[in-house]
Amino acid sequence: MALEKSLIEKMRVVTSKAALAASKFKGLNDKMGADKAAVDIMRTELNQIDIDGRVVIGEGELDEAPMLYIGEKLGTKNGVKIDIAVDPVEGTNFVAKNLPGGISVLAIAEKNNLFHAPETYMDKIAVGKFIEKGTVDLDFSLETNLKNLADALNKQLSDLTVCLLDRDRHKKIIDTLDNLKVKKKLITDGDVSGALYVTDNKFGVDMFIGIGGGPEGVLAASALDANNCFFQGRFIFNEDQDINRAKEMGIKDLNKKYQLNEIISGDSIFSATGITDGDLVKGIEIKGKEYFSETLVTHKNSNTFEIITKKEEII
Ligand code: FBP
Repeated sequence: MALEKSLIEKMRVVTSKAALAASKFKGLNDKMGADKAAVDIMRTELNQIDIDGRVVIGEGELDEAPMLYIGEKLGTKNGVKIDIAVDPVEGTNFVAKNLPGGISVLAIAEKNNLFHAPETYMDKIAVGKFIEKGTVDLDFSLETNLKNLADALNKQLSDLTVCLLDRDRHKKIIDTLDNLKVKKKLITDGDVSGALYVTDNKFGVDMFIGIGGGPEGVLAASALDANNCFFQGRFIFNEDQDINRAKEMGIKDLNKKYQLNEIISGDSIFSATGITDGDLVKGIEIKGKEYFSETLVTHKNSNTFEIITKKEEII
């Protein structure tokens, strides 16, 4: 069953209002304040929509998050049953420091079609559309992935650009890329956007790799799916509590490599509005009683993958 197209605009309104709320905290060094403002408005807005929704990726468990917690029911309950993944402020550092790249994100899918991801790290790999299945794989060595991708794109290794989070845990990857003279786009945060750079040549990224948040991986996967891109993820369970939580959630094989359509399947909608200016979307701009927003929306069934720019009144 398809999600009604009218839900695209409704989801755009939710993330743009959340982005507006968070944007008031730009440069105030208040990550929590920005997050709370976005969470509150996202919840209020989602509750007004005719959906029977439940949060599968949110701000944590009920005992640690008063709102948008995993399992929380949202919407008027008069509509389609959906699963909801939210990240009201993705890139809290960006907003706190008024740096490019802060976005407000959500994804929805029909019930039981969106992976209920544990809040652990995930090892990820993404490449753009038209790259044949089997070209890259989390189980291949980095060298093999790069060589196969270069062949598929008819490029030299030195013409490739790989995006990844700039973290100590990626030192080996970074050293390998340097040795092979592969270009890097090292991001300090925000790997939902990082993964989405493979969707369009204008971002100049051929492959996204590395370890980042699991929930962020699921959110990125939903937009990548709508754009027919390739994505694989493998959760990383280091701590006992993560292992126990994963088992409670019914994950039997803790080392399982998830294909894109095991993370998200069926129809889906993704919406990401810029809080601060970024490569993906521009940030919120307030002019008097109006604000400008830019939102990337995707809808799997209608092949929608577009940026919507709006001028709206601040109510
Ligand atoms: P927050 O917005 O929650 O601060 O997350 C930012 C982020 O950079 C994500 O995009 C990424 O998946 C994760 O943090 C990486 O985690 P870490 O900073 O621990 O490497």
